[in-house]
Amino acid sequence: MERIVVDPLEPSCEALERGAAALRAGRLVAFPTETVYGLGGNALDRDAVALIYAAKGRAATNPLILHVPDLESARRWTGEWPDAAQRLGEAFWPGPLTLVLRRHPDVPEEVSGGLPTAAIRVPAHPVATGLLRRVDFPVAAPSANPAGKVSPTTADHVLKGLEHRAALVLDGGATPRGIESTVVSLAGERPLLLRPGALPASEIQVIVGPLDRPAAAAGLHEAAPSPGMHERHYAPHGEVLLMDWDPHERERVAALAREEVQAGGQVGALLLRPLPGVPVHHPIPMPDDPLAYARLLYASLHGLDDLGCDLILVDPPSRDPAWDGVRDRLTRAARRG
Ligand code: TXA
Ligand code: MG
Repeated sequence: MERIVVDPLEPSCEALERGAAALRAGRLVAFPTETVYGLGGNALDRDAVALIYAAKGRAATNPLILHVPDLESARRWTGEWPDAAQRLGEAFWPGPLTLVLRRHPDVPEEVSGGLPTAAIRVPAHPVATGLLRRVDFPVAAPSANPAGKVSPTTADHVLKGLEHRAALVLDGGATPRGIESTVVSLAGERPLLLRPGALPASEIQVIVGPLDRPAAAAGLHEAAPSPGMHERHYAPHGEVLLMDWDPHERERVAALAREEVQAGGQVGALLLRPLPGVPVHHPIPMPDDPLAYARLLYASLHGLDDLGCDLILVDPPSRDPAWDGVRDRLTRAARRG
């Protein structure tokens, strides 16, 4: 995969045109968005879509997000445009919000794993926008990582995970938000929060009122409202152990860490407070602020992976809703099976 370094604020026309030409030719291009790097391909080209699934090793039933440069294009490529979509688009686009709506007949069903709906968003990043403006089709782009692994927030992460799987990566440095967009379905009777993410649900509720959650909505929507939600995800190679503040639990964790060290393993940690008495080779102090934490989360996990950590201890993030996106990613990185 070729790397083209671009200025994240003022990307050169030449670099953007290289990316757009590759997309037009049916090839895959990794590019930065404000959340994470995406692995993009022409959403109207079945072969390009198949390349995306193959590159990630992603189940064909786990749908992709369409990326478009503006709200007008979002309307063009969806099969319905309810009032809630207009209001949310006006409020948050460009930005880290993905809407699930009825799929436009011109969009092949492979994009959404056979579902009658499609996810769409307008990213807020000059490189993404510049690229999307140069093509006349929506760009299907999942996060540019192998399925189930930690999402990429730098071009190095993309290269490490996908190597020769894309034609090129537009390297615009680290992505500012650091976790993926919030996904909301407007395909049912009431708005449904499918994935917490970079845009807090509280802000969305100001515009459309209360959001259903998948568990509460069981029966109202299709059996599997968001296929990607069921898989283990965002996981580094080492085992992630999400701790809690209870002293007994911390003693249990300390014992596990000692065992790991005795067995010759490397222990890493993402810490909000010091962890005295526990052997940790690679402690990373994390900021006690959800935005700053999100920005560092994936880069920290990639870093601990690169150091060969076998066990990664993680302090529990606050239960405050502002931490929902971070908590969701940590919980799913930690889930085994
Ligand atoms: O921030 C992001 O959203 C990044 C950047 C690249 O835009 N993209 C991203 O894509 O995270 P991906 O493919 O890694 O995650 C898309 C999520 C999955 O959980 C998928 O199941 C869900 O959105 N999704 C996509 N289309 C859907 C649909 N039609 N119905 C329900 N869920 C859908
Ligand atoms: Mg992903």
